[in-house]
Amino acid sequence: MRRVPAARGPLSTGVLELVTAGPPDGTARPAAAGDGDPWGEDHQLALHLCYELHDRGLPGVDPGWEWDPGLLGLRRALERPFLAAVRAATGPVPPLAELVDGLLTAPGEGGPSGYLLAEGERWQAREYLVHRSVYHLKEADPQLWLLPRIHGPAQAVLMAVTYDEYGAGRPERAHALLFARMMADLGLEASYGHYLDAVPAPALAAVNLMTLFGLHRSLRGAAVGQFAAIEITSPPGAARLAAALERLGAGPDGTLFYREHIEADAVHEQLVRRGVIDELTAAEPELAQDIAFGLAASATVDDRFAAHLLDHWRAGRSSLRSPLPDGPGRSGRPSGVRPSGV
Ligand SMILES: [Fe+2]
Ligand SMILES: [Fe+2]
Repeated sequence: MRRVPAARGPLSTGVLELVTAGPPDGTARPAAAGDGDPWGEDHQLALHLCYELHDRGLPGVDPGWEWDPGLLGLRRALERPFLAAVRAATGPVPPLAELVDGLLTAPGEGGPSGYLLAEGERWQAREYLVHRSVYHLKEADPQLWLLPRIHGPAQAVLMAVTYDEYGAGRPERAHALLFARMMADLGLEASYGHYLDAVPAPALAAVNLMTLFGLHRSLRGAAVGQFAAIEITSPPGAARLAAALERLGAGPDGTLFYREHIEADAVHEQLVRRGVIDELTAAEPELAQDIAFGLAASATVDDRFAAHLLDHWRAGRSSLRSPLPDGPGRSGRPSGVRPSGV
């Protein structure tokens, strides 16, 4: 059964204490004082909890908290430094066309998918799915916030792409469900939110950024950019991950999600570039800079996530906050030694 996660510091403690105490009465004034690190565990979990109230809700929590003014004030106080940190880490953003061309030709082999294909072990592949489950078990909900914020041809094409993400009229082909089937094939629990306590800040930050962009009309260009980054970079990474999982013993269900994305996102990449970006920038040229920022910011959070994974894996350590049963334990048990029954 889904539970609220454990707090990771004063900010997430404050959010959890507030929303689990009962329905909102409009008087809540949660403190926004954390450790000052917008990339940190406490900050990212607190933001994730605020966003879940707009999304799936939190187990046992009154849905009225979604629009509680005090909690919204805290959410804004968390969003501002996070967005500023993303902008600072991203630096100057190149022109949109240059960024898109760069993504199309970037091999991406040095990232987690390349690592898993070349030398990854099964426990590392399982960890990768746990991290990604925070997004893929609700794919593409964060992008749907964008749909009523753009209009004309770009909206119609974005609708067509997201229709595919939900199975194109076949519920059993919804990408979130394919991801759940893949998790089950790899021996993981596939229910929503099951691994949240184990997922560290770099993985939460990537998903929080999607929701941040999606929920703010002022950031709709950036939301388009982040969506485009996913679709454009997905096919080669998906091909590497499908091959890696097959090598590591996944069955047909265990590669279906990534196999689906090799083909689907080759089409989506074209649609997003021609039908969404080109159409939107023709209709609203002033959005080009924000779209470029979304593309670049997406790379910023993905690079941080990738560095987190590879730093831990290369050191023989789990990249999760608490290792899976077959991962290296806190005692430093070497990787590759798998307890029986896993
Ligand atoms: Fe998808
Ligand atoms: Fe897609």
